[in-house]
Amino acid sequence: MSDEHQSPIKTPGQLIAVAIASFLLPIIVIVLCVQYVQNMNRVGAGTDAFAPDDVKARISPIAQLTVHDASAPHAFKTGEEVFKAVCTTCHTPGAAGAPKFGDASDWAPRISQGYDTLLKTALAGKGAMPPRGGTSPDDYSDYEIGRAIVYMANNSGGHLDEPAAPAPGAANATAAAASGATDANAASGANAGADAASAAAAAIAAIPAPSSAPAAAGNSADAAQAGKALYTSVCQSCHATGLLGAPKFGDAAAWAPRLKDPIDTVYNYALHGKGQMPPKGGSNASDEDVKAAVDYMVNAAKGSNS
Ligand code: HEC
Ligand code: HEC
Repeated sequence: MSDEHQSPIKTPGQLIAVAIASFLLPIIVIVLCVQYVQNMNRVGAGTDAFAPDDVKARISPIAQLTVHDASAPHAFKTGEEVFKAVCTTCHTPGAAGAPKFGDASDWAPRISQGYDTLLKTALAGKGAMPPRGGTSPDDYSDYEIGRAIVYMANNSGGHLDEPAAPAPGAANATAAAASGATDANAASGANAGADAASAAAAAIAAIPAPSSAPAAAGNSADAAQAGKALYTSVCQSCHATGLLGAPKFGDAAAWAPRLKDPIDTVYNYALHGKGQMPPKGGSNASDEDVKAAVDYMVNAAKGSNS
């Protein structure tokens, strides 16, 4: 009888071990539960916004150190380039309450403040929005920040005008980029690294010299052929990839807002230039051929590639 009810604990050492285990076990179980719940929060809600890589990506523009050659010619970044380099980290996921890229309802109340207020806010910062998106004025000028705002706003239901470029004196490189469109020497001098602007300069430099422009000499009788030829020899260098913010070939969304203008207005932009778009794409093709190239691109954007 007394044998059956004997305790399995026979030594003081065993007693201590049991005492410790009875404290530790519940604690271990609780720790595991907490960890389980935390893990669910990290990955369970269909978002990886807090994954280490994403967090790193979001903070990287702020922590980034860029070395500058102050003497290098400076070509302005387009709004899209600035956005992709800086603003996207917060404004694409809508992190920390940032108005989300492409979300018209996020942006509408902000856009209604007007461009000047938006620019002031973006330069000075507001709440979790760091001044200039965390960049230094050496990296991105006010003008470039402004372009990024316009890019975001206009891709989120807004219709802001592209800000005016700073005076040529303050920014001779822009002038070089713009006039360089027709001046291969100036353009090839604007070697500002591997960014799109210098790629554009190279593309422009590669545009055949006026006398040898094949499309200009091409057979205008077949307008569609001439348009395609001019596109291939000239316009493609920017429009195939969307360089400098050019509406991309075949991209209906990029073209739709432009095609709200009457086609003659669109022809005019192609003939006389607009923003970074050089007159006739920097070629000296005939007006007819340029219009044919526009038709070719417009048809491609509408999906009837003929
Ligand atoms: C670190 C995250 C972060 C980065 C990077 C960032 N933003 Fe923001 N941005 C925010 C947040 C958060 C808000 C919302 C602030 C608020 O309303 O209090 C905001 C708001 C804005 C607004 C609206 C301001 C207003 O008046 O309502 C503009 C414009 C803007 N950002 C532009 C930019 C531009 C341009 C860049 C890139 C150069 C950029 N942001 C980069 C977080 C960021
Ligand atoms: C150096 C780069 C470059 C080349 C080369 C170029 N474009 Fe463009 N193009 C642009 C950019 C950038 C825009 C956007 C301009 C803007 O909206 O500010 C544009 C816009 C346009 C538009 C739309 C205008 C509008 O908003 O309605 C047309 C049409 C066009 N280009 C036609 C042409 C044609 C035709 C050629 C060839 C003969 C050509 N482009 C060559 C850069 C280029």
